[in-house]
Amino acid sequence: MSPLVSRRTFLLGTGAGATLMLTGCTLGNAEALSTAGTVDFANALGIPPLAPSTIASDGARLFQLTAEAGSSLFHPAAPTPTWGYNGAFLGPTLRARRGEKVRVAVHNALPDPTTVHWHGMQVPAAYDGSAHQVIAPGAEWIPEWTIDQPAATLWYHPHVHGKSEEQMTRGLTGMFIVDEEGPDQGLPTEYGVDDIPLILQDRAFADDGSFQLTSDTPTGLLGDTMLINGSINPYLLVRTEAVRLRILNAATARVFNFGFSDDRTFTVIGTDGGLLPAPVPVERLMLSPGERAEIVVRFKAGERPVLQSLPQELGMSGELNIRAGGNDSLDLLQFRAAAKLATAPGLPASLATPASLDLEEPALIRGFILKDMYINGKLMDMSRIDETVGAGTVETWNVSNTDNLAHNFHVHGAQFRILDIDGIDPQPEFGGWKDTVFLPVRATARIRIKFSPYADPTTPYMYHCHFIRHADMGMMGQFTTV
Ligand code: C2O
Ligand code: CU
Ligand code: CU
Repeated sequence: MSPLVSRRTFLLGTGAGATLMLTGCTLGNAEALSTAGTVDFANALGIPPLAPSTIASDGARLFQLTAEAGSSLFHPAAPTPTWGYNGAFLGPTLRARRGEKVRVAVHNALPDPTTVHWHGMQVPAAYDGSAHQVIAPGAEWIPEWTIDQPAATLWYHPHVHGKSEEQMTRGLTGMFIVDEEGPDQGLPTEYGVDDIPLILQDRAFADDGSFQLTSDTPTGLLGDTMLINGSINPYLLVRTEAVRLRILNAATARVFNFGFSDDRTFTVIGTDGGLLPAPVPVERLMLSPGERAEIVVRFKAGERPVLQSLPQELGMSGELNIRAGGNDSLDLLQFRAAAKLATAPGLPASLATPASLDLEEPALIRGFILKDMYINGKLMDMSRIDETVGAGTVETWNVSNTDNLAHNFHVHGAQFRILDIDGIDPQPEFGGWKDTVFLPVRATARIRIKFSPYADPTTPYMYHCHFIRHADMGMMGQFTTV
């Protein structure tokens, strides 16, 4: 069969076909991808199962995760080799309460070494799952920690240095929800019913059905097929007037600029590290790789609005902006509201108590310059500790992107507040706890970080660009808390 024929056959079975045919398979084209209005939404949105857990004799909540290889049927014509946790693609949603001790038995059944990093979680550095906690094939790693941070939508993914883009692209990603008594009051909370995880990824498929794993796009691999929780062209049945969406940008390079097909207002209630002090109504919400947001959307009976990603300004030159997906218009998820919706109350006027970080108090200041895959002129070196900070202390980090590519900046083991970006207050929806901040070209973010209380002079945490290929290429540094 000629490649052309096999590609056609492959495409016919899929709702993404029209899209792929229009754009061809040359990615990183200086041509924007537009699927808005063309998607058939033929598939019910998959919901990652909640991970079962048991209570160990010391009271810890015990989860089991096995990283394994498998095969997924995204396209009926050609199965895709994929990796996942406790299954072929993605992983179950872990869920635990603040105050609980958590233990996760991670087994590596993959042919390659891997790690499991708890992105956004305050854990001791030795259990952070970074490039220093490699799990060999066949080996087991059992981190444990006590959850002491606000309710939030966190996630987990591999962090093998130089291999993160590849392992995440194969499918290793899952959500970790932290619950807390109190602030959830009045918010939708029924997992999979009116409290919906949305794990956003994009993928490019090769002719044989496998994921494309490399590309020449400057910000990393961009795909022309969107996956939400592993579903292509999904729809979600809505049965309540209000639905909470826990959105995770788990793409390795794509920035999403979320909005609805009817430009409706939706409400941001939380970001990376937890709930905002008060709900913030918006029409657009931009999330770069690694960032999360919780939003609440209200629906009317019978309507079918579509969640989309709309063109956005990444701060790069016109052609680079296009090659990084900045001009793409994408249909993501169709909501199908039932003929009768269960009533839902409006949102509470206040949500969480504002992040307890004294923003006025002077703090130690450090500067980080991101340019050409370097941070402060250095590439990542696993044996070099770049910064030493005091455990539990607060510092201000000035992070400047002086490159001609967009980047972002993620700090392990901690949450921070954005003080300002180029001297301007963050938009209110980005005024709460964050662990990843988007840095358009030539932007400087001042962030105030509350460091992990766990001291460890030898095992470092990392900070890096979460356009994950850039981290693989060395745009990453290490710090210890002492
Ligand atoms: Cu989400 Cu260092 O990672
Ligand atoms: Cu992280
Ligand atoms: Cu980058």
